[in-house]
Amino acid sequence: MEIHIVADAEAGAQVVADTFARTLQEAGPSGAVLGLATGSSPVPTYTELIRRHREEGLSFADSRAFLLDEYVGLPAGHDQSYHRFIRENFTEQIDIDDAAVVSPNGAAADPIAEAASYDRRIAEAGGVDLQILGIGSNGHIAFNEPGSSLNSRTRVVGLTRSTITDNSRYFDSPVDVPVRALSQGLGTILEARRIVLTATGASKAAAVAQLIEGAISSRWPATVLQLHPDVVVVVDEAAAAELQLADDYRYARRLEIENPLDVTQV
Ligand code: PGA
Repeated sequence: MEIHIVADAEAGAQVVADTFARTLQEAGPSGAVLGLATGSSPVPTYTELIRRHREEGLSFADSRAFLLDEYVGLPAGHDQSYHRFIRENFTEQIDIDDAAVVSPNGAAADPIAEAASYDRRIAEAGGVDLQILGIGSNGHIAFNEPGSSLNSRTRVVGLTRSTITDNSRYFDSPVDVPVRALSQGLGTILEARRIVLTATGASKAAAVAQLIEGAISSRWPATVLQLHPDVVVVVDEAAAAELQLADDYRYARRLEIENPLDVTQV
């Protein structure tokens, strides 16, 4: 894992946006396949990518995007649907084709068939080049709650009480929060070629400590990312507070900045 402990969300957004820019550049003219997430964690990154698009010409023109998840039972246009969220907060403000921004259809008559076809659509697009993730205070990624199979596929999941409570801030009342979602599975997410996870604030400290230093277990689903070969984790000081080896991670980053390994010279 490449671990960045940063001063605040804005500094983190620079690191994550750099990872996006690198992925877009590597994909070249055929465009990248981006894995997008909702929630508050990625918003500073989206804001920075919008700025780079407007001011620096960063282009997403030929890219495609797949969302991680969607509530079951909310129509796509609903205020709180993730379909709507990603458009308002990101994709309507860059040059990606709207038809290329794909999410599970939470209003599908047959959500189980919708889940199965979602993994197929990602595979047909060639797989995800870069997946951005947040993390829940209970260690979930997407809606893979504790107990999720570490090799799960996109499926219909029930939300835990803690997630419903966390997400109720977006709804008028907790009873309005949908209780199910369509979510990419942990096995689906692991197929992305590069993953960047970002978290801020003390409420994420326990989950971040497990993600980086805990034993791999469905008790903390994000720990499965330890098996992935290309993961970047970007956290602020509050979210890093329970890491036992934070000084080692800071030292590794400093070393990389002061003495970059120029592989072309090895
Ligand atoms: P948040 O949610 O970014 O709004 O904190 C993250 C998550 O629950 O996955």
